[in-house]
Amino acid sequence: MMTKNITTFINPFSLGIDLETGNMPQATNHLVRRASDMKGYYMNEDALQELINRDANPIHYEVFEFPVPEEYGHLMYCISKLHPGKIGEEYFFTKGHYHKVEQTAEIYLCLKGEGYMLMKTNEGKCEAVRMERGQMVYVPPYWAHRSVNTGVIPLISFCVYPAEAGHNYGDILEQGFPRRIVEIENTVRII
Ligand code: F6R
Ligand code: ZN
Repeated sequence: MMTKNITTFINPFSLGIDLETGNMPQATNHLVRRASDMKGYYMNEDALQELINRDANPIHYEVFEFPVPEEYGHLMYCISKLHPGKIGEEYFFTKGHYHKVEQTAEIYLCLKGEGYMLMKTNEGKCEAVRMERGQMVYVPPYWAHRSVNTGVIPLISFCVYPAEAGHNYGDILEQGFPRRIVEIENTVRII
């Protein structure tokens, strides 16, 4: 449920985002997900463990934020940076989540790289929408979302969503997405 009763008054501000690198120098929150954080998400657990051992548990993806109050009326925004690579045949992806306040949407503007936004609903719908520089993806309310990097450079996006949205990771960890994005014979396939 949305709580509409508290919206903290703050002063306007601006900050810089490097549109080439996604760097947000004023970011105070830096979330890092490493390969070991992705256990239970990929088809090939052995390939994930090999990567963890071989490359000293490398960074999988990062989120940079300069937070605002997590309240109805405010807008949260961040840079999401998903590194390139594969676990077996499967392209690197983010964990993916529903918003805790499920009737909240999100906008992703892709700044760099290429891939897909994989989205699903509780009713069994699933869509994969192409992401590339300059492409905006609208994630409607009720749709879980996961970025997938099918390129060879980081997939960098600027995201904006209602600040009270919150994240529900548990359902995706349990159920996954109905579709996966893999490379077969040098071709990107959505299976
Ligand atoms: C926020 C949002 C993004 C993701 C980020 C990391 O609602 O969708 O900022 O949080 O791309 O992905 P997850 O949250 O799936 O680990
Ligand atoms: Zn989200």
